[in-house]
Amino acid sequence: MQIQTRSLHAAYACVLWALASVSAQAAPDANARQLYAPCVTCHQPNAWGSPDGFIPSLAGQQKRYLEGQLAAFRSGVRVDTAMQVVSEHPKFGDPKNIDALAGYLSMLNANPDPIKGSGAHLRVGQETYTHICAACHGVDGRGASGNRVPRIAGQHYPYLRRQINAAADLHRNLAPPEMTSALRSMTDPQRDAVADYAARLGSSEPLLDVNRLGDNGK
Ligand code: HEC
Ligand code: HEC
Repeated sequence: MQIQTRSLHAAYACVLWALASVSAQAAPDANARQLYAPCVTCHQPNAWGSPDGFIPSLAGQQKRYLEGQLAAFRSGVRVDTAMQVVSEHPKFGDPKNIDALAGYLSMLNANPDPIKGSGAHLRVGQETYTHICAACHGVDGRGASGNRVPRIAGQHYPYLRRQINAAADLHRNLAPPEMTSALRSMTDPQRDAVADYAARLGSSEPLLDVNRLGDNGK
């Protein structure tokens, strides 16, 4: 993340300029596109996240989850320097704008080819996912609107892996206790495996042969 940090700072000037140019009088979809303009430097025009997988994909994410996270960054309940700067803009104090932007992002096609993990322990990942995570995130990993459960299927592995540690270290204040206690009890290799499995869920490529452990599968 050190190399990343410098480029994130460099992006701020650009972001602030784009935010200033967002116009209030626009049709709903055009308004949402304009609201998304400052985000493309980091999340990319198709909202598939950064090519290295450290900045998350937003395309196809649950709408109510997106709304909740934008509010959380703004209030400081979820801490991230880049996102705090962005969400502090007065535009994002208006629930109508948050609603429009979240609706727009949730309708975009999800990334079909996210960054994945090593593929080494997918059977462990699958077992863990099915027994613990699927209850909330769904067997297909698409999340759920009702309880603001995020889609994790097809999310980038590096981002998922970092969030798993953040939740286990109790740095994600909105994460449910059932999830944090499960993640806290998992070893690093188990966390790697479940993040890798989730990144591959819903992928257009077939899931690797989970019985061929240890050959890195690629
Ligand atoms: C300077 C880079 C940068 C810009 C610009 C930026 N983001 Fe982000 N965004 C990030 C990073 C980095 C994260 C991951 C934060 C973390 O690790 O907790 C993130 C996370 C998010 C998340 C949480 C996703 C999840 O799955 O929990 C949402 C939602 C989001 N950004 C929306 C936006 C929107 C909408 C905009 C534009 C208004 C925007 N971002 C602009 C860097 C950026
Ligand atoms: C009791 C329901 C529940 C269970 C069980 C659960 N989660 Fe979650 N998970 C959630 C909710 C709700 C959130 C959103 C938390 C927030 O708003 O910050 C979340 C967030 C996440 C995130 C962050 C996603 C993002 O886009 O930033 C990851 C990664 C994650 N869960 C992985 C897992 C894994 C892996 C398991 C199984 C070991 C698991 N979860 C089990 C409900 C659950």
